[in-house]
Parts: sequence; structure tokens; C-alpha cells
Amino acid sequence: MSTINSFSLQDKVVLLTGAAGLFGRGLAAALAEAGATLVIASRNADKLRSVAAEETARGHRVFAESFDQGDEASILALKTRIEERFDVLHGLVNNSVLRPMKGAGGSVAQWEESLRVNATGVMLMHRHFGEAMAAAGSGSIVNIGSIQGMIGPSYELYEGTNMGDMPPDYFFHKGGMLNLTRFYAALYGPRGVRVNCLAPGGFFNHQPEPFLKRYCEHTMLNRMADDSDLGGAVVFLLSEASRYITGVNLPVDGGYTAK
Ligand SMILES: NC(=O)c1ccc[n+]([C@@H]2O[C@H](COP(=O)([O-])OP(=O)(O)OC[C@H]3O[C@@H](n4cnc5c(N)ncnc54)[C@H](O)[C@@H]3O)[C@@H](O)[C@H]2O)c1
Repeated sequence: MSTINSFSLQDKVVLLTGAAGLFGRGLAAALAEAGATLVIASRNADKLRSVAAEETARGHRVFAESFDQGDEASILALKTRIEERFDVLHGLVNNSVLRPMKGAGGSVAQWEESLRVNATGVMLMHRHFGEAMAAAGSGSIVNIGSIQGMIGPSYELYEGTNMGDMPPDYFFHKGGMLNLTRFYAALYGPRGVRVNCLAPGGFFNHQPEPFLKRYCEHTMLNRMADDSDLGGAVVFLLSEASRYITGVNLPVDGGYTAK
């Protein structure tokens, strides 16, 4: 296979969770454009159906499925529907996130709800879909982590805004996702499945000016991320072009964590 062709996702069936969200919509477009047959899944079936319709109108193969990552039976039902339709899954992008905790003083119930989806749910996605890929002898799992799984909060960025109350669950499960990536990379590697993590920086979402100025100055590229920034890295990690890469964390953060 030529090097350039090794980047293609043609003939690969890929499951992307959370495809209607901020980063997810751009990821869906990038993966479909790279040739994947794409299953997009999250809880909101209506939003997903409109993403699938937009991508289908561009000539791409995109199918919407609803599921709840906080419910093992729902994960298993999604797996059954995918296997009935496509037989084998080649790639999984764990992009969904639930943010029930709004700050340091959030309730225990919110913490537990977060971990049900973002920790237990993520582990079960690896267990059920990763095991099926390993049984088939190949596959690639890409976890969408965060720079907030690599470093602690920088409270000084938020001074003068109403954004500075950081939720502890997010730092806990994004940090955990990073090492869970290494766990499953080691477990499934001998059976042909690679597992890697991306750590995006903050997404530009019309944040208050004082925050934007400080955040952008802290990056090397002097800007926040947008919905076209993750696609190339995810396509690469799903594709044969990255066939000897597993267990890594790739910051996609404009240099934020390198400073
Ligand atoms: N937004 C940022 O600035 C930022 C920065 C770094 C990393 N990230 C990471 O990027 C990924 C996407 O973030 P985003 O900001 O685009 O998220 P978002 O909130 O816009 O979208 C999250 C998606 O997850 C889905 N979801 C939530 N609970 C679910 C459940 N129980 N079952 C199935 N799906 C569920 C939602 O339906 C939604 O589609 C996340 O993993 C996030 O941690 C985001």
C-alpha cells in the first residue's frame, strides 16, 4: 500500500460517539470524507439523524444510532445492531462526554453520574468493542481526552470572568482515560488492536474576552481549537498510516501543554 493510500479509511467501519457535539460534528465530517462507513451514536437521535442526512447528501455513508454510554445494556444493544448491519467494526472513537458537575462544589450524585458515563461507560466501550476487534484480529480505538487530563486547572486564566469554577470529575476521568488507553493498548496489542488518546485544547466557543486573550497567549499558535482541528489526527490514528503507534497520548492543543 502506498503511503498516501495508507491514510484512507476506505473499507473501514468506524463508530464515533457524541457526533453532534462541538468537536464531534467536525470529526464526523472528517471521518466520512476520509472514506469511512461511519456509525454515529449518542443519546440524541434527532440531532444525529440530521448530521447523518447532511453527510449522506455529500455522498458519504453515515448512519445514526442512539445509545446511552451510562448503560451497559444499551452499549451491548448498539454493538449487536452494528454487527448485524456491518459484521466487523474496524475503528472506535470515544468522543462522548457528560458534564453533570458544574464546579468544585457539585454534588456526589453529579460526580457519580459523571463517572457512570465517563469512567465506567468508557471502560465498557473498550471491553465490548475492543474485545470484538481483538477477536477479529485488528482494530483501532481513539480516545478523545483533554489537556485537562494532563495538567491541573489554571485558575489565573479565568480571573474577571464567571468561568473559573472547575468541576473535579472532569480532571479525574480525563486523567483516567489517559492511563486506561495504555491499559487497553497493552491488553489488546498482541491481538492486533491499537489504542491511542488525543488531548485537545479548549474549543473556541465565544468565551469572555479576558479569558480568550490569556488562553490564546498561553498557546504557541495563539488561538483556541475549532471543529476542523481534530479530524486529521483522528483519521491518522484510525488509519494504517499509524499502524506501529499504540498507547500514546497526542496533545492537539496548539502547544498549550508544551509551554
Ligand atoms: N469542548 C472543549 O473545549 C474540549 C476540550 C478538550 C477536550 N474535549 C473533549 O472532546 C470531546 C467532545 O467534547 P465536546 O465539547 O464536543 O462535547 P459536547 O458536550 O459538545 O458533546 C458531547 C456529546 O456526548 C454525548 N453524550 C453525553 N452523554 C452521553 C451518554 N450518556 N451516552 C452517549 N452519548 C452521550 C452528547 O449527546 C454529545 O453529543 C469530549 O470527550 C471532551 O472531553 C473538549
